[in-house]
Amino acid sequence: MIRSPLMTVMVDSVMKAARSLRRDFGEVENLQVSRKGAHDFVTAADHKSEKILHEALLKARPDFGFVMEESGIVIGKDASHRWHIDPLDGTLNFLHGVPHFAISLGLEREGAYVAGVVYDPIKDELFIAEKGKGAFLNNRRLRVSGRTDMAEALMATGVSPTNRTGFPQFFKEVSAVMEKTSSFRRFGSAALDLAYVAAGRFEGFWEGGLNSWDVSAGVVLVREAGGFVTEYSGADFTPDSVSLIAGNSALHKSLTATLATTR
Ligand code: IPD
Ligand code: CA
Ligand code: CA
Repeated sequence: MIRSPLMTVMVDSVMKAARSLRRDFGEVENLQVSRKGAHDFVTAADHKSEKILHEALLKARPDFGFVMEESGIVIGKDASHRWHIDPLDGTLNFLHGVPHFAISLGLEREGAYVAGVVYDPIKDELFIAEKGKGAFLNNRRLRVSGRTDMAEALMATGVSPTNRTGFPQFFKEVSAVMEKTSSFRRFGSAALDLAYVAAGRFEGFWEGGLNSWDVSAGVVLVREAGGFVTEYSGADFTPDSVSLIAGNSALHKSLTATLATTR
């Protein structure tokens, strides 16, 4: 598989940040005894990863803008391109020494997500996609799952721990989905959840209250793997959307209908 110059820039930047994150994850396991120490260490690791990504991308594409989880928005000279960066998706897992987290890097062009990289540095799984060019996991082409029976589906979801008022609705949704499917997973990284939908591991994923840096890359991955991504309302997912439902063509519809029964 030949990578475009744009994808080469994205992958190189992500890999550079991943080396730092992987090193820091090795350390975090030694810090579990000191709660405060581990928390501050993870915050520093998160910021370090973002700084590496920011600097690498700025060097390669000096005019593009940025939407970064930790450092906020930077307006670029080129108003049509913005990077969306989550330097560590799955922070809570990282903090607890759970090896399930990722770096997520997406590119928005003229109001649409057009390229994405999600990298899990522990499993060494690199998910990449560019609009019109397909989605890949470590150079293997991805297709969403072929399962069409809701009863056989494995769905994924998430909820922000800070969204306390949203917990009752979240549990209603989980309950409705569990009744209709094989089960659900809540692994704690929205970027990887979407990458896993693209890889056919999950039939679908839903979450309300996400940010652009959580999903910009995953949305391109799912679409390029042949899946659908919408808001809860069924409207097409855009960079302004907050709620998200992703799935293969057959089960995206069923998941949307199941969730609608809870509201
Ligand atoms: C979180 C994770 C989690 C999702 C939350 C996100 P963070 O991102 O993606 O799975 O449920 O909504 O905020 O804080 O680990 O970068
Ligand atoms: Ca995140
Ligand atoms: Ca994060």
